[in-house]
Amino acid sequence: MAIEYRQYHYASQEHKKARILRYCILRLGNGISDECVQDVYGDDSPEKDHILLGAFDEDLLVGTVNLAPCGKNGLLLNALAIHDSRQGEGIGAKLVNYAHKIAKEQGYCTIRLMGRSNVVEFYKKLGYTPTGVVKNYPQVTLIEMTLDL
Ligand SMILES: CC(C)(COP(=O)(O)OP(=O)(O)OC[C@H]1O[C@@H](n2cnc3c(N)ncnc32)[C@H](O)[C@@H]1OP(=O)(O)O)[C@@H](O)C(=O)NCCC(=O)NCCS
Repeated sequence: MAIEYRQYHYASQEHKKARILRYCILRLGNGISDECVQDVYGDDSPEKDHILLGAFDEDLLVGTVNLAPCGKNGLLLNALAIHDSRQGEGIGAKLVNYAHKIAKEQGYCTIRLMGRSNVVEFYKKLGYTPTGVVKNYPQVTLIEMTLDL
């Protein structure tokens, strides 16, 4: 069965699954486990006006990304996470390209992101340019990147 790329709603079952997936992949850096599920339900109200996108293998959510309005005609791409057992299959690239398509259809002109330094090459392949602004957090360095749609 082919992977389906689609938008889902805030506070839906898909949204709940996406929050668990990204918590496990981005925060814990490991696979999905029962323990992490309890920790994930913080305040999600900032996501009410985000464009929420997922990659689905039948009912299983295998990838997720958010687009948050940012400035006049721009979006901030964040929380990109692919299930650890499905990385390297092209799902991340297809999901980001799908996000570009949705953003264009909705009239947005630019996308910004703060990418982890070890993922910069992935985003470069998708057309993003590093703008040189770097934020250093204790465990991760973030590089600002932009794309004109
Ligand atoms: C980084 C991530 C989103 C990439 O998604 P993916 O589905 O594994 O990647 P894809 O299979 O679509 O890769 C597309 C291309 O990018 C390359 N690529 C993927 N991850 C890369 C990385 N970390 N560094 C350099 N190149 C990378 C692939 O080799 C592939 O190249 P090709 O087109 O020449 O064959 C995914 O691995 C992930 O969720 N990682 C953990 C969380 C994370 O780091 N998220 C990003 C936060 S900024």
